[in-house]
Amino acid sequence: MIDLHCHMLPGIDDGAPDRAVAVAMARCAANDGITHTACTPHIYPGLYHNDRDGILKHIAAFREVLVAEGITLNLVVGADTHLTPDLVRDIKAGRIPTLNDTRYLLFEPPHHVAPPRLEDSVFNMLAAGIVPVVTHPERLSWIDSNYEIFERMVDAGALMQITAGSVTGRFGGRPKYWAERMLDEGLVHLLATDAHHVDKRPPLLREARDAAAAIVGDDEAEHLVLTRPRMILENRPPEELPQVESSTIADPVPQPGFWKRLFKAH
Ligand SMILES: [Fe+2]
Repeated sequence: MIDLHCHMLPGIDDGAPDRAVAVAMARCAANDGITHTACTPHIYPGLYHNDRDGILKHIAAFREVLVAEGITLNLVVGADTHLTPDLVRDIKAGRIPTLNDTRYLLFEPPHHVAPPRLEDSVFNMLAAGIVPVVTHPERLSWIDSNYEIFERMVDAGALMQITAGSVTGRFGGRPKYWAERMLDEGLVHLLATDAHHVDKRPPLLREARDAAAAIVGDDEAEHLVLTRPRMILENRPPEELPQVESSTIADPVPQPGFWKRLFKAH
């Protein structure tokens, strides 16, 4: 499996606080069957001033630690990028790293307010040839009354990344509901750990992959954790990624997603 969202690098954001925790996270990921981890520290103006050069230096240092510890885990560059005024300019200038320096950017919307220009930012990125991977929509407090924003962003070409712990219920009932609903309605492209620690928010993906498989089937579950992440790291164009398959379970009673699937099919 490939994890495209992880705060494993020690001491540069609210993820692993030190080397010991980072090593424990790497071991946990490798034991879970993760072969590649994108190191995606926050880039958040006023809070976390990371940039591509700094993140690359931390990755190079941490690779040596992994070799010394005998842990086999491939690390690639990335960032958990928050909304900034000059996002496209900073990406083009190489200050903000995309996932493995591809066209795909990990993009985290604010947790507690729906920003008025969020969709504009997504459209601007797409127009500039950057494909936003929107992180954990299911955990945002404003999704309840703004679900259609995520549908529109997907229609425009953005990708949606659900956090593994949401599918398994680690974040409680609400994120689990939205994660399952989005999987059911074919709005999810990727599962990732968004791990911040080894105990509290660990880099585990398999459990969530299996839980997702119960909703979307085994093939699509594999696309969520392996096929699409791999093609993203290879910078393949979005139209080549496997199309999202929604629920494979026949509903005796129309459920959320039923009408959407019905109309999509015709
Ligand atoms: Fe994150």
